[in-house]
Amino acid sequence: MIEQSVFGSIKNGTEVKSYTLTNKSGMKVKLLDLGATIAEIWTPDRYGKFGDVVLGYATPAEYENNSGYIGAVVGRVANRIGGAEFMLSGRKYLLDANDGKNTLHGGFDSYSTRVWDATTEEMRNRVTFKLFSPDGDQGYPGNLWIKVTYTLTDEGELKIRYRARTDQMTILNLTNHAYFNLSGKLGAADVLDHKVWINSDQMTPVADSASIPTGEYRDVAGTPMDFTAPKLLGQDIDADYDQLNYGGGYDHNWMLKRGDAQIIMYHPETGRRMTVVTDQPGVQMYSGNFLRGLVETTVDGKAVTVPGHDLMGQEIQYRSGVCFETQVPPDAVHHDNFPNCILMPEMEYESETVYRFDVAEEGFWE
Ligand code: GLA
Repeated sequence: MIEQSVFGSIKNGTEVKSYTLTNKSGMKVKLLDLGATIAEIWTPDRYGKFGDVVLGYATPAEYENNSGYIGAVVGRVANRIGGAEFMLSGRKYLLDANDGKNTLHGGFDSYSTRVWDATTEEMRNRVTFKLFSPDGDQGYPGNLWIKVTYTLTDEGELKIRYRARTDQMTILNLTNHAYFNLSGKLGAADVLDHKVWINSDQMTPVADSASIPTGEYRDVAGTPMDFTAPKLLGQDIDADYDQLNYGGGYDHNWMLKRGDAQIIMYHPETGRRMTVVTDQPGVQMYSGNFLRGLVETTVDGKAVTVPGHDLMGQEIQYRSGVCFETQVPPDAVHHDNFPNCILMPEMEYESETVYRFDVAEEGFWE
């Protein structure tokens, strides 16, 4: 079932619509055409009580001024590009330096604050959002036609399928920036009491607090970055380790192994479990280290950032959500040893990430 309603309007007057998908067991996913955003995901805990397991704002204005990219699709190239420029077939392309000297999540005019065109398919319980990104948009070459399809299955899966075509060689890395908090307490509780497993032996270390990769692959064994055995997110997050000091916590890319699942997150108190399956080579696990001052606004003529509010009107707290941004590693365009993110006109970009929600069996990971 798909229910449509008007969520409000953004500054330029454009109306923002919401699309709520429901499955047979009553699980609900609310999407917005603004940013092709996941605004709410309602799943039951072990007692059958439904709770919203992703952070979302109460108003379109907060989404529009959202420096945390809450729930949105980010691109053209998700994550960072060092020096806000790159070379492609002998030409240099200049991008926005919106994160110090570097580009983050596409630049200032992010896909996350644009209103996408929506089409619904009631029988398949899916919504497709389309965006046209013209040649030169954000500084990238090539016209780009993007489609992101969200499907909610009766098995508790939210499937995200990304497709794109270009008419010129370009670079592309699309992901979703949802912040998960399986407690159902939204912005009021941190996620440090969640257990995480990542099917990965290696991560791509960053050089300093600007978070640009050095280009190496580093073994996680014996370090706080090791999630090969499930552990609490809070267990090592404040350890004195170069990568955690640079990121202020987890904000790094892990290289994923193939298999039935790439990531599992479990919340012992509620029994909620989320399993991530993706065809992408990496994932940025970001533990919400910048969630304190999120929304840009002006007070007495001065630009300031203030806390955002979740749907319950609660201030969104530090580390109250964790993102699993499935992706090609950050700054791939500058590292030949990383999987590349080049899209050619004769290729169709196609990628899928599935977030599956259920309640774990008694004794799971105890
Ligand atoms: C990404 C980055 C983080 C942060 C968030 C948005 O996940 O890796 O460093 O910039 O986006 O706040």
